[in-house]
Amino acid sequence: MERLQKVIAQSGYCSRREAEKLIKDGKVLVNGEKVSELGVKVNYSDNIMVNGVLLSKEDKVYFILNKPRGYICSASDEKTRKTVIDLIKTDKRIYPVGRLDYNTTGVLLLTNDGELTNLLIHPRSEIEKVYIAKLNKILEINDLKTIEKGVIIDGYKTKRAKLKIRKIDKKKNNCIVEIRIHEGKNHQVKKMFEAVGYDVIKLNRVLFAGLTTYGLKSGEYRKLTVKEVKQLYSLVK
Ligand code: URA
Repeated sequence: MERLQKVIAQSGYCSRREAEKLIKDGKVLVNGEKVSELGVKVNYSDNIMVNGVLLSKEDKVYFILNKPRGYICSASDEKTRKTVIDLIKTDKRIYPVGRLDYNTTGVLLLTNDGELTNLLIHPRSEIEKVYIAKLNKILEINDLKTIEKGVIIDGYKTKRAKLKIRKIDKKKNNCIVEIRIHEGKNHQVKKMFEAVGYDVIKLNRVLFAGLTTYGLKSGEYRKLTVKEVKQLYSLVK
């Protein structure tokens, strides 16, 4: 179940803010009944009519992008900074599944499939993500172990993670670490390292839900195959 305004927006009909106004104005029917207050939850299979028009079940599209640095993961109203949506040629109203920070690079899924998006970002799904992080100093083994067991970020204890040191540069006093997690809190990786006293100076996501950027240069993207979409659904259903 999802909020009505979110489902309307995800269908591509309008923005979420516009959907809220349409609901308040009494322009939305759910399975034939008028809904004019916010907060009502619906299923993706419900019949939703806006301004007398049945919401089309728009064809679903799925893209994997190798996100470059310097792009924000926002679908909406961003006037000044470049967004990941600008990189993809489509007439569909797509949005990123979860977020990568402005300067984080790597695997990013974008789609107009609201149901799959919500399933993939739900903590219950425990989708696997692997990042390669460059740290501002060499990671001590006891700190690595502390992160693996869980650290407190924003009052929340992170679940078990798996870390591997990939490279140590003694001269420059930094290192490259692989970190594998099954959660997706805001700025999670940076905060996990910060919790034990390290700064992440570069971050690249190399795996998300079994998808990699294999064959994609920075800024390039491709459509997922039907098989890949089925695999994503099999992870969450
Ligand atoms: N964790 C972060 O800190 N940043 C990202 O972009 C992704 C995960």
